Amino acid sequence: MRIAVLKELAAGETRVAATPETVKKFIGLGAELAVEKGAGETASIADADYAAAGASVGSRAEVLKGANIILAVQGPDPAGLKGFADGAWLAAGLSPFGERARVDEYAKLGLEALAMEFMPRITRAQSMDILSSQSNLAGYKAVLMAANAYGRAFPMMMTAAGTVSAAKAFVMGVGVAGLQAIATARRLGAQVSATDVRAATKEQILSLGAKPIFVETVAGIEGEGTGGYATEMSDEYKAAQAELVSSHIAKQDIVITTALIPGRPAPRLISDAQLATMRSGSVIVDMAAESGGNVEGSVSGEAKKIHGVTVIGAKNIAALMPADTSALFSRNLFNFLSAFWDKEQGKPVLDEEIGNAVRLTQGGKVVNERLLA
Ligand code: NAI
Repeated sequence: MRIAVLKELAAGETRVAATPETVKKFIGLGAELAVEKGAGETASIADADYAAAGASVGSRAEVLKGANIILAVQGPDPAGLKGFADGAWLAAGLSPFGERARVDEYAKLGLEALAMEFMPRITRAQSMDILSSQSNLAGYKAVLMAANAYGRAFPMMMTAAGTVSAAKAFVMGVGVAGLQAIATARRLGAQVSATDVRAATKEQILSLGAKPIFVETVAGIEGEGTGGYATEMSDEYKAAQAELVSSHIAKQDIVITTALIPGRPAPRLISDAQLATMRSGSVIVDMAAESGGNVEGSVSGEAKKIHGVTVIGAKNIAALMPADTSALFSRNLFNFLSAFWDKEQGKPVLDEEIGNAVRLTQGGKVVNERLLA
């Protein structure tokens, strides 16, 4: 069983899909590891560290030669994939909806493409979930980005020259990233409030010492769809939410938005008119900017001033902390493949529940229900 680890070639991608720690663990299972030259460089891992862990290090063509499993952070360009074994697996964050054409190419190449972001949200798959591990750290970093761009302090400070008042921070969308954003903003000393469409998050917000801001006027809405994800809300709910947000947002200094609905554009939570009511110098980090944005006018990868408010459109925040995010991403991949390792066959054999969820292509065809629907 030969496992190839690719160097990421996408602009701004600094992470790597295996670390010396996971290389050793895969070798412990009986696999042979081949790491592309320079793959760990931007995550502070030298080729020599991979070699010391027992991997061979070589060019892309060399590592792909005869590979049975290809590991990457983002879906690699199909044009550069050659020489791998028949029916080889490609396990990575493949952005199946955003990079749909690539999925067809992987099928044509005979690859079995496994999209790690399609990991089902079940207890036994928690340790394999790249969305959770990466969003967690991204939620933390988003608050630091906001603090850096903010021309004031987060904590209340009493100084001989007078008092500095605490920043008011509002977190919209309390999933994995949002929970970490609340905790980080609290640690930095801000007064924190938060909102979500899923009623279950209210308790979580309170337990982190923040104030829940919820639509209470629209009855019968739970906001939770399958697998713990949010669903699209009714127009009545959206109107009530907009009104609530309008009155709250005008008093906020920092807003972190994280709201996502799988397979759909991100819901619009803050309009241009609402931005105009915020105090000049306030900062918004739109963590959903890559999925269309929660904030009107936000652009992924850019910081813009809109009505005096700095609006930061997130772009691959996880890549700003490559050492830690790579370590977690790599463990997610190892936990996934090792959980299904069949000792007699010397290779992983997926079960139906997880296999059918993550498998995009097989036998030259696109097979995933979510892509065929
Ligand atoms: P996500 O990244 O899809 O969305 C972020 C948050 O935005 C969610 O909390 C969602 O409810 C919220 N949201 C969506 N539309 C909104 C709107 N219009 N207004 C306000 N908020 C809105 O979600 P994430 O962070 O991936 O996790 C969601 C849930 O799944 C959590 O309860 C988490 O604990 C659970 N989960 C379970 C896993 C497992 O059991 N293996 C793994 C990962 C998450």
